[in-house]
Amino acid sequence: MSIARINGFADMFEPESTAFTFMESQCRKIFPAYGFKEVRLPVLEYTDLFARSIGTETDVVQKEMYTFPDSKGKPTSLRPEATAGMMRAYIAASLHAREQVSRLYTFGPMFRHERPQKGRMRQFHQIDCELLGSSSPVADADVVSLLVHFVSSLGIGGLTLRMNSLGCASCRQTYRQALISHFEKHEAELCEDCRRRLHANPLRVLDCKKDRELPCMLDAPRLLDYNCPDCLEHYETVTGLLKDAGIAYVQDDRLVRGLDYYCRTTFELQSDAIGAQTAVAGGGRYDGLVKQLGGPDIPGIGFACGMERLALLLGERQLQRPDFFVVSLDPSCTAFAFKLAQSLRHAGLSGETGYGSSGMKSAMRQAGKSGARFAVIVGTDELSRGACAVKNMDQGTQEEVPADALATYIANKD
Ligand code: HAM
Repeated sequence: MSIARINGFADMFEPESTAFTFMESQCRKIFPAYGFKEVRLPVLEYTDLFARSIGTETDVVQKEMYTFPDSKGKPTSLRPEATAGMMRAYIAASLHAREQVSRLYTFGPMFRHERPQKGRMRQFHQIDCELLGSSSPVADADVVSLLVHFVSSLGIGGLTLRMNSLGCASCRQTYRQALISHFEKHEAELCEDCRRRLHANPLRVLDCKKDRELPCMLDAPRLLDYNCPDCLEHYETVTGLLKDAGIAYVQDDRLVRGLDYYCRTTFELQSDAIGAQTAVAGGGRYDGLVKQLGGPDIPGIGFACGMERLALLLGERQLQRPDFFVVSLDPSCTAFAFKLAQSLRHAGLSGETGYGSSGMKSAMRQAGKSGARFAVIVGTDELSRGACAVKNMDQGTQEEVPADALATYIANKD
């Protein structure tokens, strides 16, 4: 009997695996251009780390973590996100003592026990970016512009950048009271979760997926109206810098994010082209988090992109088209064709070779299926001249090319 795959955990083949490789390589190119360095983190952490950072009243901590005891009975959880682990690692390595500003990124699998659907998995992948050690609004603008630069480098357009400011702890205290008084008047309309959270963490009510469209949600007090002058000035500087740099955004008064560690600037990148799961990336400032986890009082800001959702937007686009498909038309040509394919790869080109000799029709079918730009055909006539026939698979044109000029010929054609 075969063993089933766990629901919400995917095997990944082409084209998604190629999309992932492409995203990772773009990430490794663009993030260092902004001074970010790669960090690799464990996937399993003590549960306490997530409870103390993401917040005990959040859906992630209350309902979605994969938690089990270690051999001594201490609860451990598969990471539902990377920020908490990054903060733990930052504190443990005392990075703050070595550099004033740390710019860190990582990518890999995260785990949330949600109901799987298109763009929502139980094991999913994030590209995560964190900037620690600066409370300047320029740092916020730098991080948001990195996100926008990275996503546009993938060739993905049509996304909306939504922004809001949660204010600092003292603005939120006043806002919290205003929210409680507002929702107390509508308590009967709220779902069971929201009624329970109303007094413990009213911001989570605004984030409720079930109650989203209730009229009392739509006319709830606006966060920006409760930002203190300092927080407002910070936010206006961030948005001003983005506007000046030509980065468009939409002010979203209801953007509160689903995790408790945020303050001041928050943002999401959304798409309406991938079904119900619209958030492709999300992030914000989290100035109290390092301290809350036992480290020094270091401010921070970051974001994470959902790689499965970005891959959906990349779609079936052929990201790494092979350059060639080499085929031998006669057993006497096989060794020559094999050597030719090797020489092309050593010259930096990519492609496959047929494993037996075949007729012209079948050769063209195989070359077409491989997606190659050129079919390289070796028959007995070409072999006698030390050459091959090269067919441009897009234009249908064919030319004879000497074997020793083949790599240059393919490399120079678009
Ligand atoms: P988040 O909004 O919970 O933020 O997740 C970031 C992104 O991960 C989402 O926008 C979405 O694209 C993707 N994602 C989340 N859950 C799933 C899922 N079940 N299946 C597929 N994709 C998913 C965070 O995780 C924060 N740690 C971001 C951050 C970093 N804030 C500051 N630094």
